[in-house]
Amino acid sequence: MNAVPAVIRLSGVHKTYAQDGVNVHALRGIDLDIGAGEFVAIMGASGSGKSTLMHILGCLDAPERGDYWLNGTAVTRLDGDALAAIRNREIGFVFQSFNLLARTTALDNVEMPLVYAGIDKQERRARARAELERMGLGERLLHHPSQLSGGQQQRVALARALVTRPALLLADEPTGNLDSATSGEILQLLKTLNQRGLTVVLITHEQDIAAHAGRRLRMSDGRLEA
Ligand SMILES: Nc1ncnc2c1ncn2[C@@H]1O[C@H](COP(=O)(O)OP(=O)(O)OP(=O)(O)O)[C@@H](O)[C@H]1O
Ligand SMILES: [Mg+2]
Repeated sequence: MNAVPAVIRLSGVHKTYAQDGVNVHALRGIDLDIGAGEFVAIMGASGSGKSTLMHILGCLDAPERGDYWLNGTAVTRLDGDALAAIRNREIGFVFQSFNLLARTTALDNVEMPLVYAGIDKQERRARARAELERMGLGERLLHHPSQLSGGQQQRVALARALVTRPALLLADEPTGNLDSATSGEILQLLKTLNQRGLTVVLITHEQDIAAHAGRRLRMSDGRLEA
């Protein structure tokens, strides 16, 4: 390992899904290093394995073969509880479909990860509010997702992803449900967060979104190409 460990280091990672007796070899030997403060975009055709890779990076799924170090910790060796703890501490997620709780205010949505982290109510409120204000949603704290625009919902999701102060943000098609103007705003937000030190890994189908990343990778049939 280098003197400064990478935020992400994957070595020889394979993943196969078994479905109806058929094996789909979704990842076929992934090697990847991502350093602190990088902004990496991953592109590639539908079914090439991008989301599978993202699930492994996010500790939502384990590789069947190969190794994964997250901030120097060998996460492939951790059990379920330890994995959940590291996921909650180190990683923020945003998805194409926002994945907000529908019957819950913006503030409560953003507080949720802090409940799991065992932070007390008063501090939770304060941190969630500050994070929403940072996203320009100070006037929308008590709105429910259905009362917010797509771009606003994605900014709530970003606030929720970042309220635990993770080192790493994983974004799987975060602009996939947004018009181009709103996509541009979300992208700008990601760039600003990255400039403040957040490591960002972004999956996108859109060339002009990927063009803003510091490094672009392409997935093809379960393999990564620069
Ligand atoms: N839970 C699962 N069970 C079985 N097969 C799966 C599962 N998830 C993904 N696959 C298969 O693994 C392969 C890679 O899927 P993945 O979702 O990683 O692709 P992707 O690059 O994210 O595609 P898209 O751009 O459409 O989101 C595909 O062939 C897919 O059908
Ligand atoms: Mg996908």
